[in-house]
Amino acid sequence: MMGGASLLRLVAAALLALAAGMVAESAVTPPPLPVLPIPNAAQLAWQRREVIMFFHFGMNTFTDSEWGTGAEPPSLFAPAALNASQWMDAAEAAGASLAILVAKHHDGFCLWPSAYTSHSVRASPWCGDLVRDFTDAARARGVDPGLYLSPWDRHDARYGRETEYNEYYLAQLRELLAGYGSVSEIWFDGAKGKNATNMTYHFQEWFQTVRQLQGAINIFSDAGPDVRWVGDEQGSAGTTCWSTVNRSSITIGAEGIEKYCCTHAFRSSLLLVDD
Ligand SMILES: *[C@@H]1O[C@H](CO)[C@@H](O)[C@H](O)[C@H]1NC(C)=O
Ligand SMILES: *[C@@H]1O[C@H](CO)[C@@H](O)[C@H](O)[C@H]1NC(C)=O
Ligand SMILES: *[C@@H]1O[C@H](CO)[C@@H](O)[C@H](O)[C@H]1NC(C)=O
Ligand SMILES: *[C@@H]1O[C@H](CO)[C@@H](O)[C@H](O)[C@H]1NC(C)=O
Repeated sequence: MMGGASLLRLVAAALLALAAGMVAESAVTPPPLPVLPIPNAAQLAWQRREVIMFFHFGMNTFTDSEWGTGAEPPSLFAPAALNASQWMDAAEAAGASLAILVAKHHDGFCLWPSAYTSHSVRASPWCGDLVRDFTDAARARGVDPGLYLSPWDRHDARYGRETEYNEYYLAQLRELLAGYGSVSEIWFDGAKGKNATNMTYHFQEWFQTVRQLQGAINIFSDAGPDVRWVGDEQGSAGTTCWSTVNRSSITIGAEGIEKYCCTHAFRSSLLLVDD
């Protein structure tokens, strides 16, 4: 049994410890609450990247065009000395921490042997899997891979049939984000020809699928949700270019979005984060 005096000493010691704790606590000034929303971990990692490299190599390389028509035969895709490791040597030398490959552009030709279309490298004389080569070579150099999958597809007959095409796109998204290891960025380009078939994209479903398959990825589009277009293709941002935008005033692919992205003073209340 404990005597009265030792019990007192124990209580006194406990009170002293408590007081010391209080002093230590009050000495730490808590940081001020943020005025604007703050970036999540993946967005913060993106901000620290500084240099990102884009690889747009595909059917357009062989037809010397910016936008293919979708009518190009796969036989045109015939690289003689394609070497993704050499690309990554260049990326590493340039200090790029992320390299993004256009896996499918508007012409609809897929640089991986997709199970959902015959319009791919599988039907070409090259017959490899460039998404595999690219993602493997990037990781071997410590460069994070990213991918671009064009929503506008000028080749596929399903384009314009809303449910069918959205399912096709979703299936390809799954192929790319479940079959090639960790992917750090995915691009949803809003570009589309003025005369193109009308088509509603199910962005919210696509984004949810991305989140399910890749935990730390950044989703790019004109309007986020994680990283957004700077507003032009000449390589210059607006004189003031905040990370935050007013999300309710921008829609992916909307007319006039360049003007908003590039010239708007971005000091508004919403950050591009997923809900
Ligand atoms: C591909 O490029 C890498 C890196 O530059 C080089 O080591 C390798 O020999 C090349 N492979 C071929 C088949 O040329
Ligand atoms: C769009 O369609 C109009 C009318 O058919 C045509 O005059 C114009 O050249 C087309 N534009 C493009 C970019 O194909
Ligand atoms: C697409 O739909 C919009 C709105 O319904 C319409 O104004 C536009 O002319 C349509 N475009 C084509 C190419 O059918
Ligand atoms: C955001 O944009 C919407 C639509 O243009 C507008 O009604 C709203 O006032 C804007 N909010 C802020 C904080 O600027």
